[in-house]
Amino acid sequence: MTAFPGDRGLDPARLREAFGIFPSGVVAVAARVDGVLVGLAASSFTSVSLQPPLVSLSIANASKTWLDLRRSPRLGITVLADHHGGVARQLAGPVERRFDGVQVALGDGGAVTLADGLAQFETAVHREVEAGDHTVVLLELHAVRQAGGALPLVFHRSGFGLRRSA
Ligand SMILES: Cc1cc2nc3c(=O)[nH]c(=O)nc-3n(C[C@H](O)[C@H](O)[C@H](O)COP(=O)(O)O)c2cc1C
Repeated sequence: MTAFPGDRGLDPARLREAFGIFPSGVVAVAARVDGVLVGLAASSFTSVSLQPPLVSLSIANASKTWLDLRRSPRLGITVLADHHGGVARQLAGPVERRFDGVQVALGDGGAVTLADGLAQFETAVHREVEAGDHTVVLLELHAVRQAGGALPLVFHRSGFGLRRSA
Protein backbone atom coordinates (compact mmCIF):
# COMPACT_ATOMS: atom_id res chain seq x y z
CA MET A 1 0.00 0.00 0.00
CA THR A 2 1.38 3.41 -0.93
CA ALA A 3 1.33 6.17 1.66
CA PHE A 4 -0.48 9.38 0.73
CA PRO A 5 1.92 12.04 -0.57
CA GLY A 6 2.48 14.27 2.46
CA ASP A 7 1.65 11.44 4.88
CA ARG A 8 3.24 12.35 8.22
CA GLY A 9 1.97 9.54 10.40
CA LEU A 10 -0.81 9.19 12.92
CA ASP A 11 0.66 10.46 16.16
CA PRO A 12 -1.79 12.50 18.29
CA ALA A 13 -0.20 15.91 17.68
CA ARG A 14 -0.33 15.47 13.91
CA LEU A 15 -3.83 14.02 14.05
CA ARG A 16 -5.02 17.00 16.11
CA GLU A 17 -3.55 19.30 13.44
CA ALA A 18 -5.17 17.32 10.61
CA PHE A 19 -8.56 17.08 12.37
CA GLY A 20 -8.38 20.85 12.95
CA ILE A 21 -8.47 21.48 9.19
CA PHE A 22 -12.17 20.58 9.36
CA PRO A 23 -14.01 23.65 10.71
CA SER A 24 -16.70 23.26 13.35
CA GLY A 25 -19.04 25.32 15.48
CA VAL A 26 -18.70 25.48 19.26
CA VAL A 27 -21.34 24.71 21.89
CA ALA A 28 -21.55 25.19 25.63
CA VAL A 29 -22.71 22.04 27.43
CA ALA A 30 -23.98 22.91 30.89
CA ALA A 31 -26.17 21.94 33.82
CA ARG A 32 -26.77 22.79 37.44
CA VAL A 33 -25.64 19.77 39.44
CA ASP A 34 -25.98 19.70 43.24
CA GLY A 35 -26.67 23.45 43.09
CA VAL A 36 -23.47 24.26 41.18
CA LEU A 37 -23.14 25.37 37.55
CA VAL A 38 -20.95 22.93 35.61
CA GLY A 39 -20.13 23.01 31.93
CA LEU A 40 -17.58 22.84 29.17
CA ALA A 41 -16.99 24.04 25.62
CA ALA A 42 -17.25 21.45 22.85
CA SER A 43 -16.53 21.64 19.14
CA SER A 44 -17.55 18.01 18.58
CA PHE A 45 -21.29 18.77 18.52
CA THR A 46 -23.03 17.14 15.55
CA SER A 47 -26.64 16.68 14.54
CA VAL A 48 -27.45 12.97 14.24
CA SER A 49 -31.15 12.17 13.77
CA LEU A 50 -34.45 14.00 13.20
CA GLN A 51 -36.76 11.19 14.34
CA PRO A 52 -36.05 10.64 17.12
CA PRO A 53 -34.23 13.97 17.53
CA LEU A 54 -30.63 13.15 18.48
CA VAL A 55 -27.35 15.04 18.57
CA SER A 56 -23.89 13.87 19.60
CA LEU A 57 -20.78 15.07 21.39
CA SER A 58 -17.39 13.45 21.66
CA ILE A 59 -16.05 13.88 25.19
CA ALA A 60 -12.47 13.14 26.25
CA ASN A 61 -12.30 10.31 28.78
CA ALA A 62 -10.10 12.58 30.90
CA SER A 63 -12.93 15.12 31.33
CA LYS A 64 -13.76 15.66 35.00
CA THR A 65 -16.72 17.87 34.24
CA TRP A 66 -18.42 15.18 32.18
CA LEU A 67 -18.63 13.02 35.33
CA ASP A 68 -20.86 15.74 36.85
CA LEU A 69 -22.76 16.60 33.66
CA ARG A 70 -23.75 13.00 32.96
CA ARG A 71 -25.54 12.82 36.33
CA SER A 72 -27.96 15.59 35.37
CA PRO A 73 -31.39 14.54 34.09
CA ARG A 74 -31.18 17.37 31.52
CA LEU A 75 -28.20 19.03 29.84
CA GLY A 76 -28.33 22.42 28.14
CA ILE A 77 -26.53 22.90 24.85
CA THR A 78 -25.99 26.40 23.49
CA VAL A 79 -24.66 27.17 20.02
CA LEU A 80 -22.14 29.96 20.58
CA ALA A 81 -22.05 33.16 18.52
CA ASP A 82 -18.95 34.72 16.95
CA HIS A 83 -18.60 37.12 19.90
CA HIS A 84 -18.29 34.17 22.32
CA GLY A 85 -14.60 33.37 21.74
CA GLY A 86 -13.73 34.49 25.28
CA VAL A 87 -16.66 32.58 26.75
CA ALA A 88 -15.56 29.41 24.92
CA ARG A 89 -12.03 29.74 26.35
CA GLN A 90 -13.47 30.41 29.79
CA LEU A 91 -15.65 27.28 29.55
CA ALA A 92 -12.50 25.26 28.89
CA GLY A 93 -10.49 26.90 31.69
CA PRO A 94 -10.47 26.74 35.50
CA VAL A 95 -13.79 25.24 36.63
CA GLU A 96 -14.46 27.81 39.35
CA ARG A 97 -14.48 30.65 36.81
CA ARG A 98 -16.28 29.02 33.86
CA PHE A 99 -19.52 30.96 34.37
CA ASP A 100 -18.08 34.29 35.58
CA GLY A 101 -19.99 37.08 33.84
CA VAL A 102 -21.99 34.60 31.75
CA GLN A 103 -25.75 35.15 31.72
CA VAL A 104 -27.47 31.78 31.93
CA ALA A 105 -31.02 30.44 31.92
CA LEU A 106 -32.07 27.43 33.98
CA GLY A 107 -34.43 24.98 32.31
CA ASP A 108 -36.20 21.74 33.18
CA GLY A 109 -34.16 19.14 35.04
CA GLY A 110 -31.19 21.47 35.58
CA ALA A 111 -30.40 22.24 31.91
CA VAL A 112 -28.31 25.43 31.73
CA THR A 113 -28.16 27.50 28.55
CA LEU A 114 -26.47 30.79 27.68
CA ALA A 115 -29.01 33.56 27.28
CA ASP A 116 -27.31 35.15 24.25
CA GLY A 117 -26.55 31.98 22.28
CA LEU A 118 -27.72 31.37 18.72
CA ALA A 119 -29.69 28.23 19.59
CA GLN A 120 -30.43 26.42 22.81
CA PHE A 121 -31.30 22.76 23.23
CA GLU A 122 -32.51 20.96 26.31
CA THR A 123 -31.29 17.39 26.09
CA ALA A 124 -30.91 14.15 28.03
CA VAL A 125 -28.21 11.52 27.71
CA HIS A 126 -29.52 8.77 25.42
CA ARG A 127 -26.44 6.57 25.14
CA GLU A 128 -22.68 6.71 25.71
CA VAL A 129 -20.43 4.79 23.32
CA GLU A 130 -16.77 4.17 24.18
CA ALA A 131 -14.59 5.36 21.33
CA GLY A 132 -10.87 5.19 22.07
CA ASP A 133 -9.75 8.05 24.31
CA HIS A 134 -13.17 9.71 23.90
CA THR A 135 -16.78 8.73 24.55
CA VAL A 136 -19.38 9.50 21.92
CA VAL A 137 -22.42 10.80 23.78
CA LEU A 138 -25.80 10.60 22.06
CA LEU A 139 -28.26 13.11 23.45
CA GLU A 140 -32.00 13.20 22.85
CA LEU A 141 -33.59 16.62 22.41
CA HIS A 142 -36.47 17.75 24.60
CA ALA A 143 -36.72 21.41 23.61
CA VAL A 144 -35.14 23.80 21.12
CA ARG A 145 -35.02 27.59 20.79
CA GLN A 146 -33.42 29.66 18.06
CA ALA A 147 -32.37 33.29 17.88
CA GLY A 148 -31.66 35.19 14.67
CA GLY A 149 -28.90 37.67 14.03
CA ALA A 150 -25.31 36.90 14.88
CA LEU A 151 -22.89 34.62 13.06
CA PRO A 152 -21.76 31.38 14.73
CA LEU A 153 -18.42 30.95 16.48
CA VAL A 154 -16.18 28.83 14.23
CA PHE A 155 -13.30 26.72 15.56
CA HIS A 156 -10.64 26.04 12.95
CA ARG A 157 -6.96 25.10 13.09
CA SER A 158 -6.96 25.42 16.92
CA GLY A 159 -8.34 28.97 16.85
CA PHE A 160 -11.51 30.95 16.25
CA GLY A 161 -12.49 32.01 12.74
CA LEU A 162 -11.50 30.42 9.44
CA ARG A 163 -7.72 30.32 8.92
CA ARG A 164 -5.53 29.64 5.89
CA SER A 165 -2.68 27.17 6.39
CA ALA A 166 0.62 28.84 7.23
C1 LIG B 1 -13.12 25.47 21.29
C2 LIG B 1 -13.03 24.30 22.21
C3 LIG B 1 -13.63 23.10 21.86
C4 LIG B 1 -13.58 21.98 22.71
N1 LIG B 1 -14.19 20.84 22.32
C5 LIG B 1 -14.16 19.76 23.14
C6 LIG B 1 -14.84 18.56 22.77
O1 LIG B 1 -15.47 18.48 21.72
N2 LIG B 1 -14.75 17.50 23.62
C7 LIG B 1 -14.07 17.56 24.81
O2 LIG B 1 -14.03 16.56 25.53
N3 LIG B 1 -13.43 18.71 25.19
C8 LIG B 1 -13.49 19.79 24.39
N4 LIG B 1 -12.87 20.95 24.79
C9 LIG B 1 -12.24 21.01 26.12
C10 LIG B 1 -13.29 21.23 27.23
O3 LIG B 1 -13.97 22.45 27.05
C11 LIG B 1 -12.62 21.24 28.63
O4 LIG B 1 -11.52 22.05 28.63
C12 LIG B 1 -12.22 19.85 29.03
O5 LIG B 1 -13.40 19.10 29.19
C13 LIG B 1 -11.39 19.80 30.33
O6 LIG B 1 -12.12 20.23 31.43
P1 LIG B 1 -12.81 19.23 32.48
O7 LIG B 1 -11.76 18.30 33.02
O8 LIG B 1 -13.40 20.15 33.48
O9 LIG B 1 -13.85 18.43 31.73
C14 LIG B 1 -12.90 22.07 23.94
C15 LIG B 1 -12.30 23.29 24.31
C16 LIG B 1 -12.37 24.39 23.46
C17 LIG B 1 -11.74 25.69 23.88
